[in-house]
Amino acid sequence: MEIAGQVVVVTGGASGIGRALADRFLRDGARGVAVADLDAGAVRAVAAPWGDRALGVACDVTDGDAVAALIAATEDAFGPVDLFCANAGVAVGEDEQSDDAVWDLALGVNVRAHVTAARLLVPGWLARGRGYFLSTASAAGLLTQVGSAPYAVSKHAAVAFAEWLAVTYGDRGLRVSCLCPMGVDTPLLDGGFAGADGAPSAATAAVRGAGAVLSPDEVAGVVVDGLREERFLLLPHPEVATFAQRRAADHDRWIAGMRRVQSAATAP
Ligand SMILES: NC(=O)c1ccc[n+]([C@@H]2O[C@H](COP(=O)([O-])OP(=O)(O)OC[C@H]3O[C@@H](n4cnc5c(N)ncnc54)[C@H](O)[C@@H]3O)[C@@H](O)[C@H]2O)c1
Repeated sequence: MEIAGQVVVVTGGASGIGRALADRFLRDGARGVAVADLDAGAVRAVAAPWGDRALGVACDVTDGDAVAALIAATEDAFGPVDLFCANAGVAVGEDEQSDDAVWDLALGVNVRAHVTAARLLVPGWLARGRGYFLSTASAAGLLTQVGSAPYAVSKHAAVAFAEWLAVTYGDRGLRVSCLCPMGVDTPLLDGGFAGADGAPSAATAAVRGAGAVLSPDEVAGVVVDGLREERFLLLPHPEVATFAQRRAADHDRWIAGMRRVQSAATAP
């Protein structure tokens, strides 16, 4: 897919990777981009410089009615959605003791919202014979997230759902890509996992220790290249492919290695 001329929705578009995606798609000639996020003022600020080619929509992606309204507003403004970027995400929770509300938030935003969007969009895409779903998962969805069980589990589920969509509807024109970065320099990386006192968490330490922290613009560049090639797995950190191969080749050895990462991230 070439972005020029396409109608795009980006959730979590007020900040970080989502904002960089929206700006990049607009620079590359998208017909219209709907920027969706929780805060109305923030989405309008992202959309404003682009005039009538961008629409800022306040939308909680865990609210099905709000997502339906987002898609309707996008279609009214620009026409049918060609590319939906399920990018909104939360980095919350530590372990099995984390509250149910925390688990529900992680699962609700990081994966159930993808199901909600697909439920609304897939019938129209199958009728048109084309449509593109971009899932922002994480390297945590292919490997694990030291320091956050809710994040690891919800991101694995997001990868699984993206794979399932690609397998099930690929022959009927649906394209799916799954973005799986390690560290990206956004508020989520340092703030998302921080404890109540704002102290950096084991999760943040593990991500920062694992490899380069990329800029959101660098990630947007990888996404545009990957969409052009209609590749499923988009890996801004290419070493994630090697890590995933090692995990698949010898799970016990991989878990032993991840224990060492866990120890290093929690060392005083
Ligand atoms: N930053 C990283 O290191 C990193 C690495 C891998 C994957 N990711 C993923 O990238 C995606 C984007 O995160 P980011 O790093 O740009 O962080 P970010 O905090 O800059 O952006 C996330 C955005 O999602 C929005 N959001 C959260 N809950 C929402 C909801 N219910 N409805 C609508 N919007 C909601 C937030 O308001 C925020 O603007 C997330 O899915 C995240 O898990 C980030």
